[in-house]
Amino acid sequence: MPYVTEQNLTDIVKERWTHIPDPRLRKIMASLVKNLHVFVREIEPTEAEWAATIDWLTRTGKMCTEKRQEFILTSDVLGVSMLVDAINHRLQSKATPTTVEGPFHIPGSPEFADGENMAEGAPGIPCFVTGIVRDLDGKPVAGARLDLWQTDGEGLYEAQRDEKEAWMRGVYHSNPDGSYTVQTVAPIGYTIPMDGTVGELMERTTISHFRPAHIHFCIEAAGYHRVVTHLFQRGDQYIDTDVVYGVKEPLIVDFIKKTSGKTPTGETLATPFYEVRYDFVLQRKTAAQKAA
Ligand code: BEZ
Ligand code: FE
Repeated sequence: MPYVTEQNLTDIVKERWTHIPDPRLRKIMASLVKNLHVFVREIEPTEAEWAATIDWLTRTGKMCTEKRQEFILTSDVLGVSMLVDAINHRLQSKATPTTVEGPFHIPGSPEFADGENMAEGAPGIPCFVTGIVRDLDGKPVAGARLDLWQTDGEGLYEAQRDEKEAWMRGVYHSNPDGSYTVQTVAPIGYTIPMDGTVGELMERTTISHFRPAHIHFCIEAAGYHRVVTHLFQRGDQYIDTDVVYGVKEPLIVDFIKKTSGKTPTGETLATPFYEVRYDFVLQRKTAAQKAA
């Protein structure tokens, strides 16, 4: 074996990392070594820069707790979370597209009947989200489970509030005709957490650290692909600059503002409220996908 030089080092490392019995791990490590060496050869870091990189990664790891995941946030702001999502959810173009799940989903949300309010007592403008869950042929999907989470009208999720009860989240089910009605308050745009290592990095850029107003949905129905997605408010000032690259054109919806009047749940409000209408389109799993 030749001893290393700057020129032959990459090839020697690549060769050594081929001795892995698991073919998937072998492929991953071959690509990692190849691309990491390309990266380092391209940027030619100083030793001080490389030490700062290791320090940044160390501090990022130390920030992670059960409630805080600074590495996921790193993956989000670098567009990697959206790339992994895209690779894993290549749905047909007419199906409702997926987008990044984000860190604020809490499992086991309370169940609400159609039209009930999942934002009781929360600050914000009332908002009614209605629509139909359909399949690709336009047929209604009954009994689909819609798990929602979002910020309140002050831009905060449950994890960011000191709430004892569930906050701004709930589970609904579509009716036999596929319809659903959610009562909530309108979300607002918000910044990703900026008090950690990701914030430190973002502060050294001119990149916006805001997300446009959105409501998260996870929709599940037997025999269909699970869809984790958001609905985004058309016209939001951050719609074209979402810091985590989550906005897809079919997910931008009108939040129609009414000054007062009859709501989709049949009551009359004397104050302003929003109406949002969206039909979700689910794609059936193939027999092989069902078996997997
Ligand atoms: C969110 O949508 O809740 C979110 C996604 C990625 C990073 C931070 C927040
Ligand atoms: Fe969110």
